[in-house]
Amino acid sequence: MMEKAQAQKRIDELRKLIDYHRWRYYVLDQPEISDSEYDKLVLELQKLEEQFPDLITPNSPTQRVGAPPAKEFKPVKHLLPMLSLDNAFNSEDLLAFDRRVKRILGEVPLQYVCELKFDGLAVSLRYEKGVFTLGATRGDGYEGEEVTNNLRTLKSLTLNLFCPDPPELLEARGEVIMTYPDFERLNEERASRGEPLFANPRNAAAGSVRQLDPKITAERKLDIFIYGMGACRGKEFSTHWEILQYLKSCGLKISDKVRLVDSIEEAIDFCKEWQEKRGDLPFGVDGAVVKVNSIEYQEKLGFTTHSPRWAIAYKFPAAEEITRVEDIKVYVGRTGALTPVAHLAPVEIDGSTVSRATLHNEDEVKRKDVRIGDWVVVHKAGAVIPEIISVLKERRTGKETPFEMPKRCPVCGAEAIRLPGEAVTRCTNISCPAQVVERILHFCRSMDIEGLGPAIVVQLHNLGLAKDVGDIYFLNMEKMLQLERMGPILAKKLLNQIETSKNKPLRQLITALGILQVGEHVADLLTRKYHSIDDFFRVSLEELQAIPGIGPSIAESIVVFFRQPETKALIEKLKKAGVRMEEEEIREEKKPLSGKTFVFTGTLSRFTREQAEGLVRRLGGEVSSSVSRRTSFVVVGENPGSKYDKARELNLNILGEEEFLKMLKEIGVEGIS
Ligand code: IVH
Repeated sequence: MMEKAQAQKRIDELRKLIDYHRWRYYVLDQPEISDSEYDKLVLELQKLEEQFPDLITPNSPTQRVGAPPAKEFKPVKHLLPMLSLDNAFNSEDLLAFDRRVKRILGEVPLQYVCELKFDGLAVSLRYEKGVFTLGATRGDGYEGEEVTNNLRTLKSLTLNLFCPDPPELLEARGEVIMTYPDFERLNEERASRGEPLFANPRNAAAGSVRQLDPKITAERKLDIFIYGMGACRGKEFSTHWEILQYLKSCGLKISDKVRLVDSIEEAIDFCKEWQEKRGDLPFGVDGAVVKVNSIEYQEKLGFTTHSPRWAIAYKFPAAEEITRVEDIKVYVGRTGALTPVAHLAPVEIDGSTVSRATLHNEDEVKRKDVRIGDWVVVHKAGAVIPEIISVLKERRTGKETPFEMPKRCPVCGAEAIRLPGEAVTRCTNISCPAQVVERILHFCRSMDIEGLGPAIVVQLHNLGLAKDVGDIYFLNMEKMLQLERMGPILAKKLLNQIETSKNKPLRQLITALGILQVGEHVADLLTRKYHSIDDFFRVSLEELQAIPGIGPSIAESIVVFFRQPETKALIEKLKKAGVRMEEEEIREEKKPLSGKTFVFTGTLSRFTREQAEGLVRRLGGEVSSSVSRRTSFVVVGENPGSKYDKARELNLNILGEEEFLKMLKEIGVEGIS
């Protein structure tokens, strides 16, 4: 056993390393090491802390999850109030704001900081001597609720500030948000469990932070953006821009969209630009915020009772429209779930035409009381599937038709049932053509078999060439050419893609199998622990539930799936076809490029980037998108980017394409000319 002093030293090192890589991954979105390398560091730390429990500190990276549930939310008085912002709705309002500022300050040179207005839950984070000690919601602006242990579970929240001489006390102010994909995943899971759905990502974020049990917060994927400072003792700043840069250097997550400008006209440009581009962001923003940069001027401008005079929120018009429900149709998904979908008179919302909105399940239709013929308010933002927010009941004429869930599957006519306690009605026929086609489509999407879309899969199924997922690996040129509008070139392309998919990571295969409640995220958690498909046939409920992020209902779904004889048969078929069933990692040690990290820059002439990267990974190497001291080789093609400069700066091993080829040949890779 290691001596305590020695253990303490290694523990300190590991905590710093883990925190650094967490920051690269979750804050900067520029990881330097692979997930498995990261996991190894965490495991080493966990083991040492198990041996020396008295060396555990509340801010150790291992302690993010695990705090016991609270009995109630404790009130927290904010050291400085958390105010709200005055609103502007057009350029005129912004120009008026600028005039008001200049009326108070006189004609001085003014700079503004422009930021996105994140649509989430406002929180305040207190750091004492650089250590996160208290997290609170905004509440009424003067007093909020303590949510320290819940916020601790957010991976992009820094528990120990990086800055060398942290101030006595610092309050960072920011917004907790949930991205659209995470929101949709959460609602899908809730719908399948019959739990009430969150109306939007903001409610989901707020509901997830305001949990008495931090374990629930930990299961939800939340993110945080910091946009300012509350109280601060022990450090002075002269501009808001400087504050943001400082907070960023401390390791806090600041949006990279912030912009410093010299006039209100440029600030208006920023607002309009993001009004246009808001749909490109993976999370919701309800506007932009314009702030006077100089702190001296901010102090001169002061506050009204509820908002500062030095800042204003430019509100984007809400992404909603009124339209009519022309029909409610029922679709059959890969799990047999019957989903009612409202067909709408097309309307333009947020730059795209909306003609459908999901109604999720029978209870949702009842709750919203949507009828065919109703006028409804439809909302759409970013990647979120359009949603009916409300029904304009005052516009009803009496001719509207209430929806009824069919008793039989609209595709195959088999009985459709809704089990007690479930929200979902399902088609009971496992061979229902709609289910089979959807399962194959889901499989193809998850295994990156592009081009095998609905038109082709429906034909394959109708011709009896794809009766299940496994059949796609037994397609050949002759079979493909039976399809309408299919020529040898397209067929070859598709067959190649099917062939390539055989070697996808186990994680993708697990997602592709379409196990209920197992999406990419859960598949990722699973394959970090289990490296072979056969492990899943043996694993117990208890073992699965011990994995953080996997609750009892997901665990049960996995166990049930692998117990079915159909699953065994399908896996056998896929094995026979040569689909990879093991994660390469377990064979890593024996591989020629194990432990080596490659970065590619520029265009290679003999391979596509994907092929070259795939080759390195198959040979046991890692591929990273950014250059660091840990990079073993930087492979440089035509027109390399800044990674090449950085590689030279760091004096790394640089390989031209020829040298890379030579290396591969020396290792014994054949078939490359
Ligand atoms: S500054 C004293 N900046 O909007 C100034 N607020 O109505 C305080 N918000 O609840 C706010 N993004 O949580 C500021 N970039 C941003 C923001 C932002 C979102 C929220 C904030 C507050 C509300 C203000």
